[in-house]
Amino acid sequence: MKKAASKLSSWPTLDPEDWPSLRAQAHVMLDDMLDHLEHVRSRPVWQPIPDAVRKSAREPSPRDATALENVYRDFKGTILPYATGNTHPGFMGWVHGGGTPVGMLAEMLAAGLNANLGGRDHMPIEIEREIASWAREWFGFPESASGLFVTGTSMANLMAVLIARQDALGERVRSGGLVQSGCQLCAYTSVSAHGCIARALDFAGIGSDALRLIPTDTLGRMDVAALDAAIRDDRKAGHLPFLVVGTIGAVDTGAIDNLAVLSRICRKEELWFHIDGAFGALAAWSEQLKPRLAGIEQADSIGFDFHKWGQVPYDAGFLLVRDGEKHRATFAAPAAYLRRESRGLAAGSPWPTDYGPDLSRGFRALKTWFTLKTYGTDKLGRMIEQSCMLARHLEARVRAEPELELLSPAQLNIVCFRYRCEDADRVNAEIVADLHEKGRVAPSTTTIGGKLAIRACFINHRTEPADADTLLREVLEIGALRTKVAELYAEPRRAAVGS
Ligand SMILES: Cc1ncc(COP(=O)(O)O)c(C=O)c1O
Repeated sequence: MKKAASKLSSWPTLDPEDWPSLRAQAHVMLDDMLDHLEHVRSRPVWQPIPDAVRKSAREPSPRDATALENVYRDFKGTILPYATGNTHPGFMGWVHGGGTPVGMLAEMLAAGLNANLGGRDHMPIEIEREIASWAREWFGFPESASGLFVTGTSMANLMAVLIARQDALGERVRSGGLVQSGCQLCAYTSVSAHGCIARALDFAGIGSDALRLIPTDTLGRMDVAALDAAIRDDRKAGHLPFLVVGTIGAVDTGAIDNLAVLSRICRKEELWFHIDGAFGALAAWSEQLKPRLAGIEQADSIGFDFHKWGQVPYDAGFLLVRDGEKHRATFAAPAAYLRRESRGLAAGSPWPTDYGPDLSRGFRALKTWFTLKTYGTDKLGRMIEQSCMLARHLEARVRAEPELELLSPAQLNIVCFRYRCEDADRVNAEIVADLHEKGRVAPSTTTIGGKLAIRACFINHRTEPADADTLLREVLEIGALRTKVAELYAEPRRAAVGS
């Protein structure tokens, strides 16, 4: 006997009148997307959006219905070909994960459930709690530690600043604000830390000026003697040091701070020790790399992203806090309409909303759970080692080319270099834009020691040594061409000036 359909009457809903035709369309969409991923290498990494396509996204708000197959046709024609390109093996810019077909399927299941993980008593929240318990294991945190999915490490870092702020000033800061404390809080991180830490200080009302940017040593790690001195100076000036942020995997160079020493300083000075491990923390999955994270187990909190080296589709950031009660006390707020019960759907307290600013929360945990279970952390760890190998391969090739200047060696998975020529900042920026438009490889740029650098960051599990070789070959080709053109232009100008 066929099970009862969900409709009891002709009452209008948004569900299809004709389920079989929706099912057929759904299968087309799923097959197309799997084809897209299977053949990702056959397309450009990225391509510029034609004007007509860009304009097509400026339609009036749709008041009338359009058939799903037509909306999908628009998606295929105007959105799919013009995405960021981070699923492509040639993507080496910024810090973008490649995602997996498994993660994509899990996203579909999560959307089907449409669960809200702000609270209440249901299994999706148990999956988020299970991942928090796995994270405690990876990083050697105690049972009492709490964990929460967030958008990304920028949000995790902001939340850590808020928890540290309350740890320093007491719960009164939540109602009375900073003004009642009457003191200037100070935080410390290295000059090579990610900009979201300064923004977190700004958003927390402490002010980004209160973030002391400590110089780094030759390996790009925070200079601990300079950190000690900065804390001493601030105490002498009557300020209140409260937080040190160490980094695993600095965004420009992949540098890893000396976490064990930072944690000792924090314990001695009674400061909160937060680690920004946006991409680097998951190196804990690799037996080979894990020793480099020694000291991580001493942190008060860690922010990291599953959507980077974890290869989970965007977005899937995470915050882990050693003292779960301090975490809860920073965010929890009672409300009559969120009353907790000991049974029924309103049970299950504390709820995830008690640990962060969001009440409505998607099921980020599901795509993470599928990814972790389907591949296992050993294999994911080997993918991480593989991206570090690619960086070492590229570094060796850069060192062997006299036309190239190595600006930052492969400490982890990032290499910065540039083409040697006159006006090198401008030319290297042009080279990178040319590479993007050619569509074979897409690195990004940064500045190292005042020099504009081509930055290759290997995160995508699909990238192979041949892709790193393509980057090198194309930089040399474009660099030579651009230098020749510049010389040809300079020649008549020199002649004209001389005459
Ligand atoms: C070291 C570091 N910290 C923080 C962030 C910010 O992470 P998200 O983009 O997930 O907010 C990044 C992003 O690349 C990063 O590399």
